[in-house]
Amino acid sequence: MGDHLLEIGAGSGAATPELRNRVPRLTGLEYDRALVARLAQRNRSTDVVQGDAAALPFADSSFTSAIAILMLHHLRSTELQDRAFAEVHRVLRPGGRFCAFDIQDGWLNRVVHIKSTFVPINPHTVATRLTGAGFAKVSVDLRSGAFRFLASKQN
Ligand SMILES: C[S@@+](CC[C@H](N)C(=O)[O-])C[C@H]1O[C@@H](n2cnc3c(N)ncnc32)[C@H](O)[C@@H]1O
Repeated sequence: MGDHLLEIGAGSGAATPELRNRVPRLTGLEYDRALVARLAQRNRSTDVVQGDAAALPFADSSFTSAIAILMLHHLRSTELQDRAFAEVHRVLRPGGRFCAFDIQDGWLNRVVHIKSTFVPINPHTVATRLTGAGFAKVSVDLRSGAFRFLASKQN
């Protein structure tokens, strides 16, 4: 994960303390201002930033790795998801890695998100989309109703 990890869509911080234990520096990005305040209060040694995954408020090559846990389906369109992939690629240093875990399409996940955004990512096409954003060495693991991917920014 290198020395500076970006957690995208950190929410209330379910994974944040565990991630913080694994890297010298962690930045948590979250869109919702109320969650940003709570995240910052509970995670004093993490840099917490309000912002949009599709327009990351960071300079090029800022991070050695990035992770998105259960957040990509919250982006409102496939275009915004592709923009987020390109943004993650931009803010990673050469050799940096992008990991995500998300849920697949299905009636249960649609019902659960009836009052929120659910734009499921097709795990069978996500490698092509990540390659289009500039990533290489993409691997996708399918799980029951979920998937994870790992992608690298070339050196
Ligand atoms: C299902 S929650 C997951 C939170 C956390 N990753 C976890 O696993 O507990 C998705 C989070 O993504 C955030 N989010 C949605 N759209 C976003 C965007 N465009 N940029 C950054 N965060 C966003 C939501 O506010 C929410 O906190």
